[in-house]
This record gives sequence, C-alpha cells and structure tokens, in this order.
Amino acid sequence: MKLTVFSGSANLSLAKVVTEKLGLQLGSRVLQRFPDGELHVEIQESVRGHDVYLIQPTSPPVDAHLLELLLLADACRRAGATQLTAIVPYFGYARQDRRARGREPISARLVSDLIKASGVQRLVAVDLHTTSLEGISSIPLEHLSAVPILAEAAQPWVMGNAVVVSPDLGAVKLAERYARSLHLPVAIVHKTRISGAEVSVQGIVGDVRGRTVLIIDDMISTGGTIEAAIQALRAAGCLPDMTVVASHALLVDSAVERFRILPIRRLIVTDSIDRPMDLPLPLQVVSLAPLLAEVIERLHNNRSLRDLITHG
Ligand code: R5P
Repeated sequence: MKLTVFSGSANLSLAKVVTEKLGLQLGSRVLQRFPDGELHVEIQESVRGHDVYLIQPTSPPVDAHLLELLLLADACRRAGATQLTAIVPYFGYARQDRRARGREPISARLVSDLIKASGVQRLVAVDLHTTSLEGISSIPLEHLSAVPILAEAAQPWVMGNAVVVSPDLGAVKLAERYARSLHLPVAIVHKTRISGAEVSVQGIVGDVRGRTVLIIDDMISTGGTIEAAIQALRAAGCLPDMTVVASHALLVDSAVERFRILPIRRLIVTDSIDRPMDLPLPLQVVSLAPLLAEVIERLHNNRSLRDLITHG
C-alpha cells in the first residue's frame, strides 16, 4: 500500500521535516477560505488505496486547526484512502476530560468523536494532558511521549543537587518520569487554578532550599502556572538557575513577556507547536520529527510501537 502524508497549516515546518525523513514529499492539497469565512479543502493527488497520514497539531487557533484536520480527513476518506491516521502532536481540548463543575461538555470526548466521524481510523498524539483520553477515544490512540528526548536535552543542565519540580498536582506522574530518568528527587507545588489565566500557590511539598530546579509540565499556555511556581520556589529558597521543560509550548497571551522577566536560564520544549524563530527567550527546541517519522514508518509496515509508548 502506498504511503502518503498530508499536513494542515498548523505546523508545516514539522510536517516537512517528518516527510523528508521518510524520503517523501508532502501530499499536495489546497486550503482556502471563502469570503464568508468557510474553509475549503481539496486534495490534489489520488489517495485511492493509500495508507494516509495527516499531520496537524490542534494548536491555537484550536477550532480552526481542528476543523482543517476534520475536512482533510473527510476529503481523504471520500477519495478512497484505505487507512487514515491523524498525527496530532499537540491535542487541543485534552484538558476538558470531565465535568468539573457540572453543566459542561466533555470536550475531549466530543473532539475525539468528531475526529472519528471524519473518517480517521487511528490517532497518534504526544504527551496528552490526560492519559484518560486513550480510554475516552473510540478509535485506537497511540500515545507517544517526548519525555525521553526532553530529559536527554535537560541532562547537561542538571546539577548534583537538582530537584525535578511538578508545578501542580496534575503533573506529578510526569515529574516522576523525569526524575527516574535523571536520577533526581521530586518536589511538588500545590497550585489551585482560579481561572483560565489565573492560578494561586498554596505551598510546596519537598526540599528545594539551596537547590537548582528543573520545572516540568506537559504544556505551557499563558505561563501562569510556571510563573506562580517560580515565585513560590524562589520564596522557598531554591537557586535562581532555573530550567523549565515542557512538551508543548503554546505561549499564548503574555506568556513571552511573563517569561522574559523570570529567572529562567533555559526553556526546553518540543516543536509540536509552530512558533516564530526569534522569540526573546532562552529556548532550546527538541524536534519531534525523528520520533514521528519513526512512528509513521513502523505503522505503515505494521511494526511494534511498544518501546515508544511509555507512560507508566
Ligand atoms: C495544568 O493543568 C497543565 O498541566 C498546565 O500546567 C497548564 O495548562 C498550563 O497553563 P498556563 O501556562 O496557562 O498556566
């Protein structure tokens, strides 16, 4: 079966590197807006009988990127693709996986249902905010992790007395994975979310005084969580040499301005989200391209992903 890869507009540069690594060219497609704002998608090559992969993080603007993915999938399905896999390196709406206050949708479930309805038969995602999405999804979901490559990138900055810090209770398991890999202890910031952009810190569990810290998270959105964690950690006496590691750097609203004035020496992230090259931040970007190319190659050839899927 022929292998074909298309990309939406969310992260064309990542998709290009992935297809280069596979020795392919990106499939040709058109994405156009009608004057009334509706999106028109057209696949410009035959995919009949092909094994098709659509690369599209559902990053901001989330709804637009999601709809692009759905329309691309529907176009491929109707054009006769035999297998259709969506590679969604950053999966938007993953945080809304339950009804926290009642009278709310379970948006993660709905989005996964929409992706299925569009004809996608299999999903590949990286460091989902909640691992329960795999159970929520009614199509198979391959949940990859960037932790091994991010931990390797962070290793040179880890001092003898460093500590891995989870900036909230939700990231504790993730922090444990970094800690195991880097042979470091864990500390936890007790954070409460007040609103989408506001958080407050109740306290810190663990020993951070006189230590360098490695703050980890699955995603950085407004930067409020990291800012609050850094302020609490400094007040608790940690050293100012701080490294922040996150799989997905959305950096929305005033995240960049916020981070510029914080004592962050390194911000290590993946390229799951397309962002300008010249941000005034000490960014170290680790590419997901080799991992995604490897996954596509293995899925296409029905080879195991066992060693790439580690969320324990
Ligand atoms: C929280 O539940 C997540 O793990 C992140 O800490 C959070 O989504 C980051 O958002 P922000 O950067 O806006 O605080």
